[in-house]
Parts: sequence; C-alpha cells; structure tokens
Amino acid sequence: MSGDEQRVSLVTGGAGGIGRAIAEALAGRGDRVAVLDVDHRAATEVAQSLPSTMGQRHLGLRCDLRSETSVSAAFESAERELGGLHTLVNSGGVREIVDVVRISVAQWREVIEVNLTGTFLTCREFAVRVARRRDAAPRSIVNIASVAGLVGISSRPAYSASKHGVIGLSKNLSTDLARYGIRVNVVAPGTIRTPMTEGYFADEGFVSSLSAVVPLGAAGTVRDVAAAVDFLTGAGSGFVTGAVLAVDGGWSAEKSYSADPGSAYFAGANGTAEPGPRATVP
Ligand SMILES: NC(=O)c1ccc[n+]([C@@H]2O[C@H](COP(=O)([O-])OP(=O)(O)OC[C@H]3O[C@@H](n4cnc5c(N)ncnc54)[C@H](O)[C@@H]3O)[C@@H](O)[C@H]2O)c1
Repeated sequence: MSGDEQRVSLVTGGAGGIGRAIAEALAGRGDRVAVLDVDHRAATEVAQSLPSTMGQRHLGLRCDLRSETSVSAAFESAERELGGLHTLVNSGGVREIVDVVRISVAQWREVIEVNLTGTFLTCREFAVRVARRRDAAPRSIVNIASVAGLVGISSRPAYSASKHGVIGLSKNLSTDLARYGIRVNVVAPGTIRTPMTEGYFADEGFVSSLSAVVPLGAAGTVRDVAAAVDFLTGAGSGFVTGAVLAVDGGWSAEKSYSADPGSAYFAGANGTAEPGPRATVP
C-alpha cells in the first residue's frame, strides 16, 4: 500500500487497555494512527510504541471527550498531520459502580458526558470532515459500547444508560451517514481485563464465577476486541453497517434461571428431567 493509500485511523481512549490494543491492530495493518486521549502523555507514549509496518507515522493527541473544542482541535491536528480521515474508533470511556439511590447528579453527568455526548461529538466531527472531502474512499466508525448497553447491569445506572445510548446513536448514524459512504457499527465487549476492570480480578469469587456465567468460560482479552474492530473497519465488512457485535464469550446470549448445572432446571440433572428429543439423535 503506498503512502497515499494508507488509511488514517483515530482511536479515542487510545491510551487505555482496549484502545491501545485497537491502535496496535490498526497500525499493524498499515494505518496511520492518531491516538486520542484525555491523558496526553500516555497517548504520546502509545503512539510512539506503535508498529510502522509501512513506514507510516503515528500521532498522540490530547482530546477531552467532554469538550467540543478539544474534540475539534484534536481532529484538526490529526487531519493536518496525517491526512484525510478514514476510520474512527471510540474507545474512550468511564464507568461508575454505584446504585441509583446513591449516585450523585455530578457522577451521572460525567458518565453520560464522556461516554454518550463524547461519542456524539467525535462522530459528528468525523462526518463533517468526511462530507467536505466528497471522495469515494471507504470509511467507517466503530463505537465501543458494552454488554451494559444490551441489558441493565446492576449498580451501573449511568453507565448502562450511556451504553444503550451509544447503541441507539450508532444505529441512527448508520442510516444518516450511509450517504457519505460511512459505515457505523458497534462492538459490545463483555468482561475484558484492563485498568477499568482490574478491581474485579482481585476478587477470587468473581474470577471463579466466570466459568459458570460465561458460556466460553472466561474473560476476554483486549486482542479479542481489537480483532472485531479490525474486521468491522476493514474491507471484509464492506456491507455491514448498523450492527452490534457482542464480544462477550456468549454472556449476553446465556440467560438461565439457575447457575447450578446439577439443578432440576437442566435436562437430565438429578434424573428429574428427560433429555429432549434432539439429544437422542446420533
Ligand atoms: N474492560 C471491559 O471489561 C469493558 C467492557 C465493556 C466495555 N468497555 C468499554 O471499552 C472502552 C475502553 O475501556 P477500557 O477497559 O480500555 O478502559 P480504560 O480505563 O483502560 O481506558 C479508557 C480510556 O478512556 C480515557 N478517557 C477517560 N475519560 C476521557 C475523556 N474525558 N476524554 C478522552 N479520553 C478519556 C482514559 O484516559 C483511558 O485511557 C470503554 O468505553 C469501556 O466502557 C470495557
């Protein structure tokens, strides 16, 4: 791929666990990557560490998703330094674990502002800049939501609301931005070990419960999420838009009334239930 054909990709929250893995995957396939994060120093360190498989350069930029001016300035710098934009991945986010009785209005606003309004601001900025170019290059946005955007996870009222909002916004954008040749998709990760979830992994009970509640039996990795983003921003998904891809080991597909495989609820358990007809088919 020549320099003119290299894609320019922006990753918000690019200094975080998932964002960094996404930046690495996109740089690894030859994209010029702008790593955007509220933590400028960390964004610069990540950008400097990315592979330059095609001799391409990368950039670390400060971008505060709570600020329209900050978002606009970061996109302006990325476009000026790296060229016309092709891919936007929104991985910047915050999460509060507090129930609805205790959450303050300030905590609610912070989560909604970063996760939902921030996603709106970056998608709008991207669309406006793409619309100005009037060329036919393939372009796409991937917003990182969460399984908390598919179901209401307890103790996370603002987080769950923000992630449901990200999915709704993305479905709207997939229709409104199709005319500019921009595909818009969502990745909804389940539990992935990163700085955001490190606390869970200090809890042995949580770790051992994963084998019971996740059909594939474990937490996912940042590379699992990055691989999904690589697919959704690549040529192989050229006819995919408005989709929500759960990367959760089957957690959101599995909803049982019992976590105990020995309970009467499961076929064949304790001799109380007959195996269904399909089980007898060789
Ligand atoms: N880790 C998981 O299990 C998991 C599961 C589902 C969804 N997610 C989502 O994936 C995304 C990435 O999460 P992660 O696990 O990598 O967390 P992380 O904390 O490692 O990374 C989040 C990044 O967002 C940045 N950020 C926070 N506020 C910002 C702001 N105002 N402006 C710009 N950047 C800001 C942080 O500096 C950080 O680098 C988040 O949207 C999160 O909600 C994570």
